[in-house]
Amino acid sequence: MRAFVVNRYKGPLQQVDVPEPVVGERDVLVQVQAAGLNQLDEKIRAGEFKLILPYKLPQILGNDVAGTVVGVGAKVRGFALGDEVYARPDKDRIGTFAERIAVAEADLALKPASVSLEEAASLPLVALTAWQALVERGNLQPGQRVLIHAGAGGVGTIAIQLAKHLGATVATTVSAGNVDFVRELGADVVIDYRSQDFEELLDGYDLVLDSLGGKNLEKSLRVLRPGGKAIGIAGPPDSAFARELGANPVLRLVMTALSSGIRRQARRLGVTYEFLFMRASGDQLRQITALVDSGALRPVVGRIFDFDQTVQAVQSLAVPSTEGGGIRGKAVISRT
Ligand SMILES: NC(=O)c1ccc[n+]([C@@H]2O[C@H](COP(=O)([O-])OP(=O)(O)OC[C@H]3O[C@@H](n4cnc5c(N)ncnc54)[C@H](OP(=O)(O)O)[C@@H]3O)[C@@H](O)[C@H]2O)c1
Repeated sequence: MRAFVVNRYKGPLQQVDVPEPVVGERDVLVQVQAAGLNQLDEKIRAGEFKLILPYKLPQILGNDVAGTVVGVGAKVRGFALGDEVYARPDKDRIGTFAERIAVAEADLALKPASVSLEEAASLPLVALTAWQALVERGNLQPGQRVLIHAGAGGVGTIAIQLAKHLGATVATTVSAGNVDFVRELGADVVIDYRSQDFEELLDGYDLVLDSLGGKNLEKSLRVLRPGGKAIGIAGPPDSAFARELGANPVLRLVMTALSSGIRRQARRLGVTYEFLFMRASGDQLRQITALVDSGALRPVVGRIFDFDQTVQAVQSLAVPSTEGGGIRGKAVISRT
């Protein structure tokens, strides 16, 4: 089958013929009809994740899929041939930029019936990230206030809608052209990050979802109330994540050291910092399916590439929004 692979880190993505996926007894073979693009794809290609995700090259790229079930392992009970499904496959079993992929049943869910396959493929990784940040880690409650950075991006568009569904007041940062767009998604307070300083405008927040890291994360700590929490998805990684990953002692030390500065700053302010690296979950995806079909969450697909354009699609992830790389929501590769 055709697939797009990384042969060496930093090298070009290449279209090659690869063997059919091996389908384990608890796996579902999915005919890929659409594959969402994520910043993670470009970071993997560039080798930025090789310590955390040590793939054996060549590696098929791609972290999101929507498609049709064309095979099931002997012990699969929840899916049947012909089902339309979607998933963020486990981080150790990625490879959705291909004609087919075998996904563990535990990571898969039926796709929302109310949206297209392309829209479904835009959801898993970012919606699971938003869920794990706001629901699982953040325990966001009705009436609480949350700052969601980069509201017009893949994670931001879904996180704003999920936070509103949970009953929170939502502040977000965008560039001027996206102010009306994020208001339509439900944002209550919209800050133009190019002309305004969010730290001067916000105070007493319960939760921040930071997708930028660095100075942005440091400033984010200062908009929290005492006891508030900042969840970082762009880093730095912390020791809890190193443990979760089963990292060796050296990597653990490195991760602890990388986050020691921000954790110290958080302690001084009486707030906490946690790094989140999202994980696959079919159970959480089923809850996301229900929210999409009830109208609470709307996927935002800003651009669709043809499967043959996968190399250009991944290249587009490396272009910053200031240089015309910015789209609203997600880019998706389509094979339909
Ligand atoms: N740890 C995890 O599990 C995890 C999961 C998902 C994503 N991530 C990471 O989180 C980051 C965001 O992911 P994404 O998929 O949402 O990316 P994305 O869709 O590419 O986000 C791009 C958005 O960033 C906005 N932006 C750029 N600079 C900004 C600034 N200074 N302040 C506020 N917004 C700014 C742009 O806004 P405008 O267009 O309005 O200028 C654009 O909409 C990436 O680094 C990704 O790798 C991590």
